[in-house]
Amino acid sequence: MQFPGDQGLTDDFQAMSLRVAEIIASQLRAKPASCLGLPTGRTPLGCYQILSGWSESGQLDWSKVKCFALDEYLDSDDSRSFGTYLQDNLYRHTNLPPESRFNPRFVDDYDALIAASGGLDLAVVGIGRNGHIAFNEPGTPRQSWTHSAWLTDSTRAANAAWFGSIETVPRIAVTMGIATLLSSAEIVLIASGEHKRGILTRASSGPASAGLPASFLWEHSSLRVFTDFQFAGKPG
Ligand code: PGA
Repeated sequence: MQFPGDQGLTDDFQAMSLRVAEIIASQLRAKPASCLGLPTGRTPLGCYQILSGWSESGQLDWSKVKCFALDEYLDSDDSRSFGTYLQDNLYRHTNLPPESRFNPRFVDDYDALIAASGGLDLAVVGIGRNGHIAFNEPGTPRQSWTHSAWLTDSTRAANAAWFGSIETVPRIAVTMGIATLLSSAEIVLIASGEHKRGILTRASSGPASAGLPASFLWEHSSLRVFTDFQFAGKPG
């Protein structure tokens, strides 16, 4: 597992990862033809490692599942793409059919495809330290569907560990919109590291506003939040 950054694998991180992996596994067992929205980044790596193990030992069947990456760089080489990340960290360990691995960079109308697939059953979403969800940066309106977006310096700095230096971090991406994410039947928000506590607390405190895109998640009736730090907001 590629694990950039200086944070180790704490017991709390493992516990968070296990709980989220259990939710995804339960979803697949309850509905084998589930549509999932899947994040990248550091936070879901532990969850993907657990799911990969269960899948390799035959405990999870992905043959009818459809997976939709939440976002993707538009100016990255393939080795650093989120498609490659999901392939390496999850897909290749499962029996998810290659034609069921969707990426917004390669689909003309992602929202139409998601809708035609029955809609997202579960979207797992990370939070950026500036409050972004997927690549919906501050200022993105609630009524946003899949769109391209310039990345903020904050986001590019946070992702520099994947690229070696900030200069080589992509500047533009395509992302599910906030409306896309809110259309999911269920949302699981994950946050790892004390540096996420402040923004998560602000997001959960409301009121929802485009200045803090994650705040819109609390409008959803089926949001669960999982962290690897003590968090007094809406519990998971
Ligand atoms: P991280 O990214 O999991 O690498 O912290 C989360 C995000 O920016 O959405």
